[in-house]
Amino acid sequence: MVSIGATTGATQDFSAEMLATGLFEGETPEGLGRTAASLVSSGDFTGKVGETSLLYRQEGLGAPRLLLVGLGGRERFTPERLRRAAARAARRARDLKLREAGLSLPVLPGGDARVAAQAAAEGARLGLYRFDQHKSDAQNHELETFWLVSKEQDLGQASIGAQLGQKAAEGAVLARDLANEPSNVATPEYLAEKAHAIAERYGMEVRVLDRAGIEQEGLMGLATVGRSATNEPRFIVLEHRKGGDAAPIVLVGKAVTFDSGGISIKPSGGMEDMKFDMSGGAAVLGTMEALGALDLALNVIALVPATENLPSGDAFKPGDVLTMHSGKTVEIITTDAEGRLILADALSYAQRYDPAAVVDCATLTGACHVALGDHASGLMGNDEDLIAEVQTAGESSGERAWPLPLFEEYTEQISGDVADIKNSGGRYGGALTAGAFLKEFADYPWAHLDIAGTAYGKKGNAYTPKGATGTPARLLVELLLGRTR
Ligand code: BES
Ligand code: MN
Ligand code: ZN
Repeated sequence: MVSIGATTGATQDFSAEMLATGLFEGETPEGLGRTAASLVSSGDFTGKVGETSLLYRQEGLGAPRLLLVGLGGRERFTPERLRRAAARAARRARDLKLREAGLSLPVLPGGDARVAAQAAAEGARLGLYRFDQHKSDAQNHELETFWLVSKEQDLGQASIGAQLGQKAAEGAVLARDLANEPSNVATPEYLAEKAHAIAERYGMEVRVLDRAGIEQEGLMGLATVGRSATNEPRFIVLEHRKGGDAAPIVLVGKAVTFDSGGISIKPSGGMEDMKFDMSGGAAVLGTMEALGALDLALNVIALVPATENLPSGDAFKPGDVLTMHSGKTVEIITTDAEGRLILADALSYAQRYDPAAVVDCATLTGACHVALGDHASGLMGNDEDLIAEVQTAGESSGERAWPLPLFEEYTEQISGDVADIKNSGGRYGGALTAGAFLKEFADYPWAHLDIAGTAYGKKGNAYTPKGATGTPARLLVELLLGRTR
């Protein structure tokens, strides 16, 4: 694992194997030698986002390699652009088989070096991420050290930011690893073991209900979805208690380790992606990992209902009626709307903590992916302030969330014929009727993130290879950090 730190000093004294420097569009490089100056004055290097150029043995530089990285316009420079630039620099260093490299920390509009260093550290760490443990020919060269070279007066803030960024990124890495694992590895029991490991590392409390415990507790949504699976369901409770007697924040993550749709079975094309249907639970566990490493003075409780959704002779069926943990009855319209069933139980279980806020995240609806594409999670809830807080954390973490409405008409759309409510409101407004379903079980300030479009992807970006993104682990870390400030 790469170690990321902040340092300061003149560029001629920085003697790692490579120094990367960002260049803003339309600006002339200073103190980087004649070649860099000529590259820019000739117009061959313009500073556009994504542009890079590698130079060797430039006069006045201690490092034998200089990597120029385009940052785009100075006024339009954001932490997100910095994440991507840092990822390009760190990855290039690794591709060159280097062990130690650095990046001159560029200045954000506003000049906050803590924010800049956090973003750069996140970008570098996440840009180096790869999921290759199942490949026989995995590349094993690792970049060992990545320095963020700051101005002397910024060193204190840059060090804090580098630490924050590395720990937040490590949480996202765990979320990615869990989500990328296939469902024959990442079973509900496997997730429970990971929760135990986090608890042990950071002195948290952990409780795991097995099938009998889930039934005894009356978590019938989870028990029913999990009934047909040979890999038994688990209900995972992980508690970080460092906030005195303050009301806790509860994080809930959907962990359907494989969603075949059940009796309402999905088409086979692309079904392999349904191993990612536990991304919400993975992100919540990743958040707890970061929270433990950061040792935040908060009370935070993670609830992860984990199960497979498979057909069998014992599977639940369309038309069945369940009595949920809260006592509400639900008519099953489709067994493929399973996520809301297990989340609803976790949400009503959360009631016992008298929580200050509850945030759930779930790969809940294809409709949300259709609505917002790959670039934002759907954000719903029952509390305007909490929704705004989540949206802000999304913006600063680069894990965007965008508000969607929960008008009472969506609740009417799921009102039941045979039972209190039904688990599907039909095709139209699918993300909203799913949100409206969850709302029936949340009796406290609550926000819901539908991550069906953001949790994994086929394309990726500069700091996210294809596969799991880890979203919204860093959003949640940012939200928790905000609650300590
Ligand atoms: N896990 C899926 C949602 C999903 C679909 C996530 C595609 C990522 C990509 C969820 O359990 C589901 O099947 N939802 C249904 C709900 C419908 C049956 C009411 C959907 O979105 O089609
Ligand atoms: Mn489903
Ligand atoms: Zn699902």
